[in-house]
Amino acid sequence: MTVIPLQKDSVDLTELPEPPASDGPVLVETLAVGVCGTDLEIINGDYGWAPPGETRLAIGHESLGRVMEAPEDSGLHPGDLVVGIVRRPDPVPCANCAVGEWDMCRNGQYTERGIKERHGYASERYRIHPEYAVKVDPSLGRLGVLLEPTTVVAKAWDHIERIGRRAQWQPSTVLITGAGPIGLLAALLSRQRGLETHVLDRVTEGLKPQLVADIGATYHHGTIAEVGIAPDVVIECTGVAQLVLDAMTHSTADGIVCLTGVSSGGRTFDVDAGLLNRSMVLQNDVVFGSVNANRRHYEAGAAALAQADESWLSRLITRSASLDNWRDAYVRQADDVKTILAFSQ
Ligand code: BGC
Repeated sequence: MTVIPLQKDSVDLTELPEPPASDGPVLVETLAVGVCGTDLEIINGDYGWAPPGETRLAIGHESLGRVMEAPEDSGLHPGDLVVGIVRRPDPVPCANCAVGEWDMCRNGQYTERGIKERHGYASERYRIHPEYAVKVDPSLGRLGVLLEPTTVVAKAWDHIERIGRRAQWQPSTVLITGAGPIGLLAALLSRQRGLETHVLDRVTEGLKPQLVADIGATYHHGTIAEVGIAPDVVIECTGVAQLVLDAMTHSTADGIVCLTGVSSGGRTFDVDAGLLNRSMVLQNDVVFGSVNANRRHYEAGAAALAQADESWLSRLITRSASLDNWRDAYVRQADDVKTILAFSQ
């Protein structure tokens, strides 16, 4: 599946040469890729970069594959189910990339498979270096395709907990805005920590409220004010500007607000910045952004998925398109949570 980056609707099923040996000694057969908002932005011509010297970019950064070939000492074996890490460190490298924290790259010269200057995983086969392939529990089967979005929230939780350690901190209440895959997986990790969890979304009925209830969290629709709680942690997963601002003003003292949604911009409204500042200062509030994930977060995400109820996880995958009807994978439908494109049965 390739696009000409920044060219709207250039997405197509095209022929690429076999993956080059320089991509790594591990050869993987792709089983499925997940589709997320970033893929749709890339297809819409708003985001994405081809590899240097090439016109097209193979997309797909949420992956699940099966190892076909791996060196003896790689820790991987033919048949293993693996997920490829998205980001690669910048070549300088910056202080973070130098120690494997490429998710915190400081100079922007990182690359990302399927997004920025490196072909992605939406191809029948790809090659990879073993340090960027993470094994998933074989019992998860196709649910392993949920690992990449889980790593995004594993990182968010890792950083929330690090910030929490600035003082005595015993969180009890969590608010998550958005019941898409990221919001639902953030709620799963919150429940795995034993926290009282509230999830807010626009829909009033259907699968999302049920999924929230089934992990022992409370579902709300409407505004954050209407939820009527002062959460210790807010994880904002929509990128909707009004919700982002509301999230910043509704946490409790010492509150931590983690922003994970990428907004499109272009919407402006009046904000009393002085009052916002006053409430943040007087309450020691922290608001921070979080993107991407490093290998530690992939391992934490794989452990979280292995602990989760498989029937709950399988309900997150609401649609599976095949290569014969691949275009369907990239058209959003009303009840979608996670759509996948299956490369094999
Ligand atoms: C991916 C991240 C990536 C980000 C920005 C997200 O959809 O999950 O891995 O860093 O897009 O490119």
